[in-house]
Amino acid sequence: MAPAVLVSGGAGYIGSHTCKCLAAAGFLPVTLDNLSTGHRWAVKWGPLIEADIADRAVVMETVDRYRIVAALHFAAHSLVGESMRDPLKYYDNNVTRALAFAAALIDTGIDQFVFSSTASVYGMPVHLPMAEDHPTRPINPYGATKLAFEGALRDLQGAYGLRHVILRYFNAAGADGDGEIGEAHEPETHLIPNMVLAGLGAGSVLDIFGTDYPTPDGTAIRDYVHVGDLAQAHVAALRHLLAGGESLTLNVGTGKGLSVAEILAKGAEVLGHAVPHRLSARRVGDPPSLVADASAIHRRLGWEPRWSDVDTIIRTAAAWHSSQRGAGKAG
Ligand SMILES: NC(=O)c1ccc[n+]([C@@H]2O[C@H](COP(=O)([O-])OP(=O)(O)OC[C@H]3O[C@@H](n4cnc5c(N)ncnc54)[C@H](O)[C@@H]3O)[C@@H](O)[C@H]2O)c1
Repeated sequence: MAPAVLVSGGAGYIGSHTCKCLAAAGFLPVTLDNLSTGHRWAVKWGPLIEADIADRAVVMETVDRYRIVAALHFAAHSLVGESMRDPLKYYDNNVTRALAFAAALIDTGIDQFVFSSTASVYGMPVHLPMAEDHPTRPINPYGATKLAFEGALRDLQGAYGLRHVILRYFNAAGADGDGEIGEAHEPETHLIPNMVLAGLGAGSVLDIFGTDYPTPDGTAIRDYVHVGDLAQAHVAALRHLLAGGESLTLNVGTGKGLSVAEILAKGAEVLGHAVPHRLSARRVGDPPSLVADASAIHRRLGWEPRWSDVDTIIRTAAAWHSSQRGAGKAG
């Protein structure tokens, strides 16, 4: 029987791609999701338990029923702007409910846990690229809640032996190479899907926030990692824990930065025409560049990005959004 893994947030963007990858690697992904931002259609590789992560009885019953061996925790709120307007919503879901989830797991005897953290825990870069020992000074409640839960995990390990891998993602992008699932956030705040939607005439004109950054072309630079590569990083982290490996905190990025202008140029090439856009002012709190030092994840888990080149990221995102326009599903 395939070992079962509990995937909170498995109906969401990164969680659903990871479920596909887990199934291909011989695991049964059991999704626990309240569908607050996720989608029933994205759960294809195992059962969906429609419930909140803080529902202790459901978590305990699910662990018992499926003989869960480990948990991957994606469920969270993750909009930076919203976190600034409504921090209580973020502390409630990303810390309080996440702790209730971890407590229920610990009480069932689960001691292996993979957590979706973020480069937002670092705040403004002091130097680039940013390794895991870069200072962590988040500049918004979203990053603060993720950092708070990271700290809690270390305490839970000390007291209850909860071994964990914390994965700090940089910018997730792209879609499943087979076109089965893809990104469908509402509202969509990420550059690449918004660019593709603008290019397909299915979204608003793309805003380019800031053209006067101290970068070679004046636009902001980020480290984009294909969602399929992120999914593989989770499988590698899970295998590490199942093999008895120690707790780790690892960046997931490529170590290469791409500017907004470079993405826009590649978008025009892939779509075959220019993407309608307008130049806007910088957004408060957006650093000029964020690039990962991703050498630790390579060293510790043997992980290497395979699909994170800009061409594959934009092609898979464009294929997904085009298919959804036809199907009238997402985007
Ligand atoms: N997308 C990115 O670029 C990015 C970057 C860094 C970190 N992350 C982190 O990765 C994780 C997944 O991000 P995503 O882009 O797939 O988000 P998403 O919104 O697509 O997925 C989150 C899923 O969690 C579910 N969920 C939220 N709160 C829940 C609760 N209390 N109980 C049960 N289910 C709940 C939602 O319904 C959704 O299916 C998040 O923790 C996010 O903070 C994402």
